[in-house]
Amino acid sequence: MTAVPPRPLVLGVETSCDETSAAVLDGRNRLLGHVILSQDVHEVFGGVVPELAARAHLRKLDAVVDEALTRSGVTLGEVDVLGATAGPGLIGALLVGVCWTKAAAYALGKPMIAVHHMEAHLFGPVLEDAEAEPPFVALLVSGGHTLLLHAESWGRYTLLGETRDDAAGEAFDKVAKLLGLPYPGGPHVERAAREGDSRKHRLPRPMLRRNQTPDSPDYYAFSFSGLKTAVVELVRALEEQGTFAAERNDVAAAFQAAAVDVLASKTMRAVEETGCRRVLVGGGVSANGALREELARRLGADGRLFHASARLSLDNGAMVARAARFRYDLGEVSGAEATAMADMPFPGLHRRTA
Ligand code: KG4
Ligand code: ZN
Repeated sequence: MTAVPPRPLVLGVETSCDETSAAVLDGRNRLLGHVILSQDVHEVFGGVVPELAARAHLRKLDAVVDEALTRSGVTLGEVDVLGATAGPGLIGALLVGVCWTKAAAYALGKPMIAVHHMEAHLFGPVLEDAEAEPPFVALLVSGGHTLLLHAESWGRYTLLGETRDDAAGEAFDKVAKLLGLPYPGGPHVERAAREGDSRKHRLPRPMLRRNQTPDSPDYYAFSFSGLKTAVVELVRALEEQGTFAAERNDVAAAFQAAAVDVLASKTMRAVEETGCRRVLVGGGVSANGALREELARRLGADGRLFHASARLSLDNGAMVARAARFRYDLGEVSGAEATAMADMPFPGLHRRTA
């Protein structure tokens, strides 16, 4: 006979973009079972098609939850708390997870928690490293968001900076497309960059100037669309010269070096201003080895860098279950009014006052 896992058992459901995922955590936040199904329907379009994403979630979510429960050795009826990503994300995709979870919670008479996707990314690393707890400076870099926060404690976050245009992951995806690499572009750009020389071409570092001071409005802000335009122009010039194919990896390396420099420099500004030498990097782009290495290098021996494995950096149900558990412990249960919100406000996030 197997021992009954400690309660509460939390089911997390993630459908905000193009991963259909579900996971079960036990009462000690141990991951019992986890399934992540990446939709491949988008590959031929070179980006996520929202309508197709929603339809694919609808087709697969039942099976994904079933498999996560089976791997956990838990039945749906034994689950105590159900959490689903309610936003931000693609509205049609979010609605599938929220409606499924709401219906299941209602049928089972169990509480449901509407989870914020980016808060969930903050909980990725702590699933694998119990020390990845606030206080920390958090750099959240995904396909839709680029946020620099100071997390004083779980649920208390100060927003230092965010992107003014494209997200970091979006920039990786757009540059991949320009270089003729498949979607999602991040890992392909990283691989190409490893083979290239970042010093062959110098690309701009948007919003990063040495003379900025903490009271400058751009001190912590990010912008990636200008960097992408610079890559467009560089690719065009190399094509005209007929050297694009030979220099493709160098362009990938120059782009990655510029993006990593901006991300790491602004993060280190936050480390200096807050005096907090603990840094967490989360979201899909945190799977990037060059970004992690640069952050670790700049933090030095007296700093700590927390990040999750690639599996828990990218979208997943486990982080959603963990964030749901946190909100559940605070008594923040959603009722029948729970709904999906494409631009859901980040709970507990306050703007920095300079
Ligand atoms: O967090 P995530 O899985 O989904 C969103 O919440 O958006 O992040 C996906 C993003 C994509 O833009 C993808 O290209 C990027 O993360 N990404 C990477 C890497 N792996 C994934 N970017 C750079 N380097 C990587 N190794
Ligand atoms: Zn994400």
